[in-house]
Amino acid sequence: MTQPFAPAAFPYARPRRLRSSPWVRRLVAETTLTPADLIWPLIVHDGAEDRQPVASMPGVFRLSPKAAAQAAVEARDLGIPAVALFPNVDGAIKDAVGTGATDPDGLIPDCIKAIKDAAPEIGVMCDVALDCYTDHGHDGVVEGQRILNDATLERLAEQAFIQAHAGADIVAPSDMMDGRVQAIREALEANGLQDVMILSYAAKYASAFYGPYRDAVGSAKMLTGDKKTYQMDYANTDEALREVAMDISEGADAVMVKPGMLYLDIVRRVSETFRVPTFAYQVSGEYAMMRASMANGWLDEDRAILESLHAFKRAGCAGVLSYFAPQAARLMGA
Ligand code: PBG
Repeated sequence: MTQPFAPAAFPYARPRRLRSSPWVRRLVAETTLTPADLIWPLIVHDGAEDRQPVASMPGVFRLSPKAAAQAAVEARDLGIPAVALFPNVDGAIKDAVGTGATDPDGLIPDCIKAIKDAAPEIGVMCDVALDCYTDHGHDGVVEGQRILNDATLERLAEQAFIQAHAGADIVAPSDMMDGRVQAIREALEANGLQDVMILSYAAKYASAFYGPYRDAVGSAKMLTGDKKTYQMDYANTDEALREVAMDISEGADAVMVKPGMLYLDIVRRVSETFRVPTFAYQVSGEYAMMRASMANGWLDEDRAILESLHAFKRAGCAGVLSYFAPQAARLMGA
């Protein structure tokens, strides 16, 4: 943007006047960050333990449905509006087409119900993709080396229906197949679930920063090859606008950019161009690299968390998915 006026020259202009005390800094702040800007991603599992630590994500645990419900209560009490669920299921149920993704009595429906019982005021968002359920770790149905787009759409629509039917408020396709938003929207409409929101991972890049997450959900050891034929090339930004335009026209209510901190240029372009609620995901690798330097005493923990999240608001985000959500909300309340 161009400067709308010619600034006065020193000594009349002293920008530091507006920074001279905490009250004036608060008064002139252009953006704010509150717990209402946060979505807390929860890794859930079907293992025996209520809370099992994730080695590459210090402070993050794989949660049983019961522990997930407790986390939702914590989120509600902290003023966090929503949680997002990601499953780690027993490897034995994984197969080529991700059958577990559409089990109406599976882990995710169990967690949705437990959360809705414990904290009905909280929004529940679910990841729509097959990677957590396939024995090849890809988000879609595979034939040889190819990830089949249209065959995957049917699986995703059914998965989203199962989640919405179990009580999910938001379904969030993260698979990057073409046409998935329309397929999901049609399935929801056809089944009386027209009020369920779609938050599409519209601009999702093929990124090294998903590494710790794939460890957390157990897809890392399964994955063969990479996801570059469906997730976006990080060299591109116009392409993100085309992806977002498509998802909105297919019926997405809100969109997401992912990863987060390295992609705030994309957030800025998307939010300014489309003026729809734009979210971003501060992903596992971003969380892990910050935690690692905090553990070494190289970054001041509290300040680094708040500054990193505020950057998303400044770039134009309506909200941020972050594993720091509960800690950040506590810092904001303090
Ligand atoms: C998969 C999915 C991924 C994440 C959320 N959903 C990883 C991937 O695409 O391989 C990443 C989240 C994170 O890194 O925190 N559909």
